[in-house]
Amino acid sequence: MSLQTRTPLVAGNWKMNGLLSSLDEVRSLVKILKSKQAANSEIAICPPFTLVGAMAECLRESDVAVGGQDCHPDQSGAHTGDISAEMLADSGARYVIVGHSERRHDHKESDLVINSKVQAVWRAGLVAIMCVGETETQRDQGKTLDVVTGQLHNSLPDGATAENAVIAYEPVWAIGTGRVPANSDVAEVHAAIRGHLKERFATGGEMRILYGGSVKGSNASELMAIPNVDGALVGGASLRAEDFDAILEAYRP
Ligand code: PGA
Repeated sequence: MSLQTRTPLVAGNWKMNGLLSSLDEVRSLVKILKSKQAANSEIAICPPFTLVGAMAECLRESDVAVGGQDCHPDQSGAHTGDISAEMLADSGARYVIVGHSERRHDHKESDLVINSKVQAVWRAGLVAIMCVGETETQRDQGKTLDVVTGQLHNSLPDGATAENAVIAYEPVWAIGTGRVPANSDVAEVHAAIRGHLKERFATGGEMRILYGGSVKGSNASELMAIPNVDGALVGGASLRAEDFDAILEAYRP
């Protein structure tokens, strides 16, 4: 299955950044996108929960989708401070990032918990962007492929399809550091993920696999040209319209 059959996705992850005033960046992005040739990709922005509804409203007339950054496995109930996938859908989200390494680390989320969150995303009719990736120590120990395929095996439930799941490979040591793996290392991990997906799922060849970790305008074209890299999950460079648009250049003819 070639890249032509997979529409790339460029998703911004705002993390714990953004106030109502930050929606000006989103309005600028829409203006920039209108003024340029369309990028051959889907685009999404995942702001903090407080901005999901307002951002969805801002982007209603555009092709840019909105996503959440996490959700609780349950639909509702006594879970103070949590947000369900249904609430995100209700606010206008289409995607939910699940299992980001910052959640795995900061909130001790296990593969099992992430598995139940992915199912919650599907229950709400949304698309899960499920993250996997090795730490620097694991890479140094030569465990990268085992770690990544182990996370896929345990976090990605049966029932994944090209429509309801996107995988994001994010080496933990590349997130927010300005460091990126060698192209050959990215290619090796993405090929291993593709192999896992094809083996387990009927549409595994059509599922999108994003690369994330220090993606910016200056390295996007090179990274996005690697086989089985079907887009990017972008943190820091998604906060400003111009920086985010520079990444989309990789998909302009
Ligand atoms: P970064 O973050 O682009 O700032 O490295 C990526 C991510 O954590 O999704």
